[in-house]
Amino acid sequence: MLSEKMATALNEQINKELYSAYLYLSMSAYSTYIGSKGFANWFMVQYQEELTHVMKIYDYVNDQGRQVKLKAITQPPTEFGSGLEMFEKTLAHEKFVTKCINDLVNLAINEKDHATNIFLQWFITEQIEEEANDNEIISKLKLVGKEGNGLFMIDRELATRIFVPPATSNETQA
Ligand code: FEO
Repeated sequence: MLSEKMATALNEQINKELYSAYLYLSMSAYSTYIGSKGFANWFMVQYQEELTHVMKIYDYVNDQGRQVKLKAITQPPTEFGSGLEMFEKTLAHEKFVTKCINDLVNLAINEKDHATNIFLQWFITEQIEEEANDNEIISKLKLVGKEGNGLFMIDRELATRIFVPPATSNETQA
């Protein structure tokens, strides 16, 4: 069973992942509104991914015999500027999430909670991938600048992203 402190910290992380989902849903809505369908698709997929992060922690807290306690989700911004600015904001947010995950791992280590430490390793790897994806798109956006054709091509590329549900914990361990 999780300690009270660990359960509280994981419940806070559920809230942060829900906020991440909300933030990316807002970015998707904004992208749709300004006519960037590819960006809208990319952020809609990101929204779906964040919900799977929520549910991973939700299931883990349940499996460890603690109660999931949901809190209010902070309202996200509704204006995000250019595509480059949007991805720079995304990267900044993901760096914040990475720090939160690292703090959770530190807490698990301090508490000698080996199960939670192992559980969180998936998130460590996921954060590396998320930051790398954001950095790659930021580089492309910087390369094309305000050039219309380049931005059109990037929008088309972002339109191809498909949501792939992560493997279940059983599949991960297989
Ligand atoms: Fe759930 Fe994008 O971190």
